[in-house]
Amino acid sequence: MKIKDVDDHDFEKFVRNGNQIRAKFPKQKVKVEIMELYEALNKRVASRSFDPSKQIPEETVLKILSAGATAPSGENYQPWEFILIKDKNTMKTLAKIKLESRKRVLREWYPDLSDEEIWARVEPQDVAMKTASWFVAVCYKNLDTFAEIGNMRISLSLAYVYGCINYIWLAATAEGIGLSPTVYPYDIYDEAKEILRLPAGYELALILRIGYPVKKPKGRKRSLIDLNRKVHSEFFGNHREEASQLQNN
Ligand SMILES: Cc1cc2nc3c(=O)[nH]c(=O)nc-3n(C[C@H](O)[C@H](O)[C@H](O)COP(=O)(O)O)c2cc1C
Repeated sequence: MKIKDVDDHDFEKFVRNGNQIRAKFPKQKVKVEIMELYEALNKRVASRSFDPSKQIPEETVLKILSAGATAPSGENYQPWEFILIKDKNTMKTLAKIKLESRKRVLREWYPDLSDEEIWARVEPQDVAMKTASWFVAVCYKNLDTFAEIGNMRISLSLAYVYGCINYIWLAATAEGIGLSPTVYPYDIYDEAKEILRLPAGYELALILRIGYPVKKPKGRKRSLIDLNRKVHSEFFGNHREEASQLQNN
């Protein structure tokens, strides 16, 4: 973490340049904590438990979304659209359909699981949904044309949106904000689109649950797959030994 001393004018410029948001700041010198990129990469985690007594100000949400909006996209399409949701009824409805669907899917996939075991798997989702300050539905205009994607069999528009989501996630980490995404697949996709009143031609990528984390995350908990198994030299399957050494440093 770098602490930078900046005066009023510089701070405003700093915020404006980075985030295109104007805000009022005190006249005295302020200390700005700047989390470095690699620190944010290592500290980013999926947060599923937020402090419900602390509401994140809308400007802060806009600040992290503006970081997302700097993400690159083919032809500079910027296909993303953000729906900010803080209405408790809408949040409740979106939470309910997600939870019920998750339970249905788990019952189908794992018929041997007891109700308690299923609940243990969905409970973190329930907590995340109930304690988040905001939901942000990340939507996009599907701009894929066959001429562009041909037989790639992926949505390029969605790929750009996932880039944007990861920028938002890193910015949230730098701001000390907790975030976890949740998708609305299967039977609830159309239902969620309807709740969000998405017009024709627009799709829902996922919903971000955002709030101040109950516990300040110490850093990445998940283990990473050895990079040596992921990096290939010249052709697939020809692994490089040095890759894993780099990762461990
Ligand atoms: C596209 C996408 C969808 C995800 N969907 C969910 C989800 O529905 N529920 C959830 O709790 N976490 C979800 N996650 C978070 C992942 O589970 C989490 O990022 C992963 O386990 C790695 O943990 P970490 O982010 O804490 O490092 C999603 C992540 C991504 C990138």
